[in-house]
Amino acid sequence: MTPTFTSARKVGRLLAVVAASIVLTACAGDAELDTLNDLAGPEAQAIDRFMNWILLVSYVVFAIVLGITMYAWKNFRIKTDEYEEGDWPEQIHGNTKAELAWTAAPAIILAIVGVFTISLHSSLNSADSNQINVLVGGENVSWEPEIVVVGQQWWWEYQYHFGDVELTAQRIENLPTPDITTATQMVIPVGQEIELEITSRDVIHSHWIPSLNGKRDAVPGRQSAPWKIEADRPGVFFGQCTEFCGLSHSRMRMQVIALPMEEFQEWVTAQMQGVPLEPETQAYVEALVAGEVPSPETAEQRAVATFRGKCASCHLMEGVADDLWSEEAVADQLVAGAAPNLTHFSSRTTFAGGIRNVWDVETGEFNQNDLREWLANPADIKANFTDPVSDDDSRMRGMPNLGLSTQEIDDLVALLEATGPKPSMDIIEQTGVEG
Ligand code: CUA
Repeated sequence: MTPTFTSARKVGRLLAVVAASIVLTACAGDAELDTLNDLAGPEAQAIDRFMNWILLVSYVVFAIVLGITMYAWKNFRIKTDEYEEGDWPEQIHGNTKAELAWTAAPAIILAIVGVFTISLHSSLNSADSNQINVLVGGENVSWEPEIVVVGQQWWWEYQYHFGDVELTAQRIENLPTPDITTATQMVIPVGQEIELEITSRDVIHSHWIPSLNGKRDAVPGRQSAPWKIEADRPGVFFGQCTEFCGLSHSRMRMQVIALPMEEFQEWVTAQMQGVPLEPETQAYVEALVAGEVPSPETAEQRAVATFRGKCASCHLMEGVADDLWSEEAVADQLVAGAAPNLTHFSSRTTFAGGIRNVWDVETGEFNQNDLREWLANPADIKANFTDPVSDDDSRMRGMPNLGLSTQEIDDLVALLEATGPKPSMDIIEQTGVEG
């Protein structure tokens, strides 16, 4: 007795399971990172079209290979369970024509696919030199939309340098001070090609906004060739770091907010301003900068004192602690240069690497609870690493527990809320994340 061939029924069942799992994995109706639907830009659409063609080709190849296999199985198998050696079908060996055909055909198919791959790749890597006018500090500046994207453990920084600044192939530490620095959320004008200069401050990350473009690695010490994105309509597009980069890799998310040009300009104007402090707080800051040691009297003054004492070695807040962030201090690494700029914290809608809402999605209220929890012990919300990574690298990864008192936390929460301006309810809803 020879073993019986697996019954057709078993094969059928197996095929059903495979087919069901393939179909069911596609069952995420409103997935934020869907690469098949909600494509909002020419780059993502070009990749999608290309993928569809490749799929089509692979379906055809699959059908041909499967067809030949089934044909051979049906026609050349031994049709009985019991057979003698003499029952074997005639064995053949060597067929030059067939061998040439099955060598040449895949080579030709791959060559054709290769030509289209390279041409798509080079078009994704080339940027148009489109210019738009942006009002910066009351002056009309011609800007070729370009944003520096900096990955770090575990959040994304976006730098805007307006005017004629050479960003391509610059190392991050050689770049001038940006006009605007945001974290976790990149705001772009609709219908404009935006060049991304992607780099990293520590390990390799990967930046990917599926609705707008393919992914691009963020490699420390080098800046990628321009990688472009463009949104063809206003909206919010989610992304996620796609290169395993350590403990909180899964909590390294980002969003692109595409705004019509006028709203983008409003955003730029607001971001260029300092924190709207109360007049007596401004006077308090000026006294501190002048070297005096006034004692804080209001809640906001207390918050400023706490911020300068405990937050400012890592976080910049313009108008509150920029004197501590002199160029020399940055160069001497007296300040970390690698924590989110908090000048307009509450103009953003997510924090902690895009995993918590700054504003309550339902009520529109400032999300004090999550922020209190975060300030009390960041590691409760987002796993981090606040011991030195190695002897020659004393930087920490993630925000440490600063041992803030309840009073200090209350003061800081109020200061952070005041940074503003508060985004529209529409944006708050669209960017809302599940905490
Ligand atoms: Cu950054 Cu994964």
